[in-house]
Amino acid sequence: MVIAMRITPSILNADFANLEAEVGRIPGADAVHVDVMDNHFVPNLTIGLPVVESLRRVTDKMLDIHLMIEDADRWAPAFAEAGAESVTFHVEAAAAPIRLARELRKLGARASMALKPATPIDGFADMLDEVDMVLLMTVEPGFGGQSFLDLVLPKIRRTRELIGDRPIWLQVDGGVSTSTVERCAEAGADTFVAGSAVFNAPKPDAMVSELRELAVAACRH
Ligand code: DX5
Ligand code: ZN
Repeated sequence: MVIAMRITPSILNADFANLEAEVGRIPGADAVHVDVMDNHFVPNLTIGLPVVESLRRVTDKMLDIHLMIEDADRWAPAFAEAGAESVTFHVEAAAAPIRLARELRKLGARASMALKPATPIDGFADMLDEVDMVLLMTVEPGFGGQSFLDLVLPKIRRTRELIGDRPIWLQVDGGVSTSTVERCAEAGADTFVAGSAVFNAPKPDAMVSELRELAVAACRH
């Protein structure tokens, strides 16, 4: 089976004063990953709904929203209404994750659940039919530029096993670079967030291609 490998760069390390231009530097990306932080769920504050609405007006690329916020049940649907194709909430933050996933799908978005590095997947196995993607954090959420946590690799493998034949994307986020993307792909990831690796590269779009090629090659092994 040929598994598509998707690269979804995070704009967290991009120039926030020039987001339209920054998104224009990654034409080959499969989606634009947008990190929304509230300084409660994580110790950092980034961008919110108005910026996503503005981004929607300047790009046709898939918007992949990663909500690192406490009150996900309240806020997530608004991002789907703003035209984001994919909305990810943290299972640690959602009070009613099944209801929320169903609401996101009803609004026409892909619903996705995220797990912090220390949160086991097994307790959420029964929820897999309710989501279109699982995001496994490979750093503690909150900041770009952190080191990849190898301890998450067994959970990537386990999640791939649990997904089985279902067309659910398995995304990894945090510390993904040319030195770590292959081990993620070998373990079963098919969707890769890379922030600093892409936006600190001299040619971000060339980095997107390089990461995808490494992931495809690693997956064939
Ligand atoms: C971290 C964010 C990531 C971050 C990744 O909490 O969820 O999306 O931007 O940045 P890098 O790729 O630099 O680890
Ligand atoms: Zn993210």
